[in-house]
Amino acid sequence: MLASEVNRENVSKMVRTFYEMIMKDQRVNVYFIMALGNDLDSEEWQEHYKILEDFWLLLMTGERGYTRDAFSPHLDVGELDKETFERWLELFNEVVHRYYTQKLAEKFYKRAEVLSRKFMQWLHIEST
Ligand code: HEM
Repeated sequence: MLASEVNRENVSKMVRTFYEMIMKDQRVNVYFIMALGNDLDSEEWQEHYKILEDFWLLLMTGERGYTRDAFSPHLDVGELDKETFERWLELFNEVVHRYYTQKLAEKFYKRAEVLSRKFMQWLHIEST
C-alpha cells in the first residue's frame, strides 16, 4: 500500500531502501563508500539515516529536527558531475514512487530536483 502521508516510519524505510539502491549503483556508490564505508549497518550509516530522516521530514512536513547544513558535506565527497546527480535523482524518483502516492512522490522529487540544481550551481557543475 502506498503511503498518503509522510511520517518518520515511512521516511525511515524509504531512506534505507534508497541507500540500498545507491550502493548497488556503480556510479553513485563510490562517494558514499568513501564517506561512510560499505557496511550499511555500521554506526556511520545509522547516523546518516537519522540525519536524512530528519532532513526529509523537515522538507516534507515542516517537522523540526534537521538544523544542519545539507550542502557543505558535498564539498568534500569528491568530484561530482552532472551524470551522477542525474542518476541520484533517477534512483530517488524510483524509491519515492515505491513508497508514496503519486502526489507525494512528485512533491518529494520536486524538492530533490530543486536542491540538486542548487548543489550543482554551487559546485559549478554545468546543469543544462
Ligand atoms: C550526485 C549526487 C549526490 C551524491 C553523490 C551525494 C553524496 C553524499 C554523501 C557521500 C554524503 C555524506 C557526507 C558525509 O557525511 O561525510 C551526503 C550527505 C547528504 N546529502 Fe548528498 N549527495 C548527492 C546529492 C544530494 C541531493 C540532491 C540532496 C538533497 C536533495 C542531498 C542531501 C544530502 C543531505 C541532507 C546530507 C546530510 C548532510 C548533513 O550532514 O547534514 N544529497 N551526500
